[in-house]
Amino acid sequence: MVLSAADKSNVKGVFAKIGGQAEEYGAETLARMFATYPQTKTYFPHFDLSPGSAQVKGHGKKVAAALVEAVNNIDDIAGALSKLSDLHAQKLRVDPVNFKLLGQCFLVVVAIRNPAALTPEVHASLDKFLCAVGTVLTAKYR
Ligand code: HEM
Repeated sequence: MVLSAADKSNVKGVFAKIGGQAEEYGAETLARMFATYPQTKTYFPHFDLSPGSAQVKGHGKKVAAALVEAVNNIDDIAGALSKLSDLHAQKLRVDPVNFKLLGQCFLVVVAIRNPAALTPEVHASLDKFLCAVGTVLTAKYR
């Protein structure tokens, strides 16, 4: 997934608007993913997945931080998320279809919380970025 210069600029622009709210975006993304696609819950049998749970909030914070890290290193997402890629491939082995589901939920959260920011062009760029992150996190599956 190759991001053009315009894509990179669009993605950075959206994350600049998200700013300090990234953790909330992350938690809401997970809550929506678990509610809308309950099959994703099978990877978290050890979590309290009830709405607003501390574990969902805590994990949302980690996911959001990883996305911010990817944005901050948008020319080398694979390098920035290398350890996370090892974890998802070697230990977690999350089926790659689930990354699409998480990405969809993140887009919905952006659309709800920041509707003006999500022009069709920005939507397309953000989708490409989320696909790129998913590709990196599933690249080392063997
Ligand atoms: C763990 C990021 C997609 C399942 C993690 C961690 C991060 C992360 C930062 C914590 C790693 C650590 O504690 O060192 C991401 C990102 C994703 C993504 C950025 C996509 C944009 C998914 C998906 C699933 C998933 C789609 C499954 C539906 C898990 C599980 C853990 C984990 C089960 C371990 C949780 C725990 O026991 O603490 N992920 N993840 N991830 N992720 Fe992902």
